[in-house]
Amino acid sequence: MPYAHITGWGISVPEPVLTNDDIAKMVDTNDEWIRERTGIRERHIAREDQFPSTLGVEACIKALQVANLAPTEIDLIICTSSSPEYIWPATASLIQDQIGATKAGAFDIQAACTGFIFATNMAAQAIRSGSIKNALVVGTETLSRFVNWKDRGTCILFGDGAGAFVLQASDKPGGILSAVMHSDGSGADSLILPAGAARYPATEATVHEGKHFVQMDGKAVFRFATRVMGQATREALELAGLSTADVDRIIPHQANFRIIETAAKYLKMPMDKFVVNVDRYGNTSTASIPIATVEALQKGLVKNGDKVVLVGFGAGLSWGALVAEWTGPIPSKKHVYPEQYRLFARLRSFIRRALRYIEGLFSRREL
Ligand code: ACO
Repeated sequence: MPYAHITGWGISVPEPVLTNDDIAKMVDTNDEWIRERTGIRERHIAREDQFPSTLGVEACIKALQVANLAPTEIDLIICTSSSPEYIWPATASLIQDQIGATKAGAFDIQAACTGFIFATNMAAQAIRSGSIKNALVVGTETLSRFVNWKDRGTCILFGDGAGAFVLQASDKPGGILSAVMHSDGSGADSLILPAGAARYPATEATVHEGKHFVQMDGKAVFRFATRVMGQATREALELAGLSTADVDRIIPHQANFRIIETAAKYLKMPMDKFVVNVDRYGNTSTASIPIATVEALQKGLVKNGDKVVLVGFGAGLSWGALVAEWTGPIPSKKHVYPEQYRLFARLRSFIRRALRYIEGLFSRREL
């Protein structure tokens, strides 16, 4: 059975920064309250011309550059987003087209902020089954579009960004060692974006009632999160035959500094084992774990051979963790330039659209 290794990683974060002081000009809050209760100082907000696919494409290209893999070699793209571009088509399909991943199947997974854990596990399973060799997993968000900027209870929390991993098959032991996935739909109301889908299709009333915005019972989510983060970490470690003493680094979903602190106490692990960057990004939902991972790699906090736990929680309710032995890119003599495929992808997409148009003109009416 092949092993599934994480061989590439990349992020894309929009430039505009919104500080706590900026938010204090919009709602009745202040920098001190936000920092004390959440640990957040600032977050990045996408420009009007940036969408989940825009950020996702950039993160994927960077991940492919690290893996030294051409988009045409990717078999599967799994995108996960709490703020997808459309209900359908899948954001993964838009990314597939724009990066030129000509042979990849592409679909979205919806598990809110836990999505990146679930998606990475699904890609690893597909690789281990032998059915595919190379996969791209991407979490991408422009959640700022679904935040009620008049609600001080939620607007302080979220930020935009994207992160991607390349997963590849290898006979060398390592890579994803174990994973656990959990859900509890009885908590669906605790964290919900109610309107715009089948239950509450968009109407004047849904807009008026603010049903197209994130709604959250902050205290209930806080209690749930502090309970499950430690539990899921322990479960995944047990499955991998490891204990907390074997762990070099924990990369948790970045929602609230206090939640991470409580999980550290539960696990009896020092805070310096935890990667924390919620102060500069806020909660970027599905993108938070890969963004924190890439920053940790850049700072040398994660090295080849390290045992790393990724752990997340979110709406659903859903939660999960996975354990990986970090191995890095697979050595190769070839050198590919994934970014150059974008031009080819644009041309290919244009020709396909043109052909579809011409086909429409010439097809018989009764067809
Ligand atoms: N600024 C100032 N005061 C505020 C603010 C604010 N931004 N927000 C709330 N308050 C006030 C409240 O009105 C309340 O005042 P009152 O006592 O006079 O009624 C007081 O502060 C306490 O409010 P709480 O909501 O009880 O504050 P709490 O300490 O629970 O912190 C928070 C709120 C930060 C949202 C916290 O509950 C939390 O982090 N929860 C988890 C949220 C989370 O992680 N969500 C993402 C999940 S992942 C996903 O899937 C998207």
